Amino acid sequence: PMSSPETPPVTNVTDKYAFAFDIDGVLIRGGRPIPEAIEAMKVLNGKNAYGIKVPYIFVTNGGGKTEQERCIQLSKQLEIEVSPGQFICGHTPMREMASKYQTVLVVGGEGEKCRQVAEGYGFKDVVTPGDIIKDNPDTTPFRKLTADEMSNSRVRNFAEVKIEAIFVFADSRDWAGDQQIILDLLMSKGGYLGSRSETFNEGPPVFFSHNDVIWSASHDLTRLGMGALRLSLEAMYKAVTGMDLNTTAFGKPQMGTFQFATRLLKQWRRDTHGIDAPPETVYFVGDTPESDIRGTNDFNKESENTWYSILVRTGVFQEGTKPKFAPKATVDNALDAVLHGMELET
Ligand code: G3P
Ligand code: MG
Repeated sequence: PMSSPETPPVTNVTDKYAFAFDIDGVLIRGGRPIPEAIEAMKVLNGKNAYGIKVPYIFVTNGGGKTEQERCIQLSKQLEIEVSPGQFICGHTPMREMASKYQTVLVVGGEGEKCRQVAEGYGFKDVVTPGDIIKDNPDTTPFRKLTADEMSNSRVRNFAEVKIEAIFVFADSRDWAGDQQIILDLLMSKGGYLGSRSETFNEGPPVFFSHNDVIWSASHDLTRLGMGALRLSLEAMYKAVTGMDLNTTAFGKPQMGTFQFATRLLKQWRRDTHGIDAPPETVYFVGDTPESDIRGTNDFNKESENTWYSILVRTGVFQEGTKPKFAPKATVDNALDAVLHGMELET
């Protein structure tokens, strides 16, 4: 929605610059807020020596629940109000594919959550691995559906269903089963389960919501992420068929995600702060050089305004290593990142 005429412009909000935050490893780790992140939000909301507020958005590769649900959770964790109007997760841009494919397989996440997200995006016919196992339990020899999965899964005859695309929305909870099903579809005759192509070039396309091989969760060391599943699937496909598999990943560092973020930030600044002109600088705060820093630096080259990358030490990046993609600044945590940006602006 466009800004309504009765929204008054707030004068103590800076129109010169804005912040964009990665979430895991910067603000949150394993469901818990990083203490300095809570303070960083307070500083942006006016608790600073300059007497100003600074607009900000969130750009995470994570996912698995609706944007609405995730924002409610983030609001509690960070002790501020976070609106879906300032939030993008890995699968948000997949929304734009809903009109392109009729029947799709959605993989990953807890229970039925990703099916709900996909349906909310407007996908008309959403299949889950559970539906497929319910139709034919022999699909995954070592995975039996739980009672809950059994009752949620939808009955249909997959021999008659053409699956047009595969979307990995969130981390798989069962790599073996999910990969078996994806592989079956890739090797099928045109997306019909139970069939085998003679040429292996007629299966559906596969889309991942991001490509992070590792990420920062509650463990001290980094954990395997969706990018690892992608690597594994591509290697398996090659081993089984002898052919290369081309898949597509959304999320950071893809330029499309940063373009999406630019549009979101523009709308957000206009709707909530009455600001019409684009910011001169966007400070992007991230913990993963391959996604956050690489994406920000690349986008800086093509964007009209400055995208300034700040790497923190609270997540994937660890001191003592050299980041593969060099940030404009490296600081300890999200609070220092905010203070760094604000200092540069004064
Ligand atoms: O699964 C999520 C993770 O790979 C990265 O999330 O917030 O660091 O982009 P984030
Ligand atoms: Mg991160």
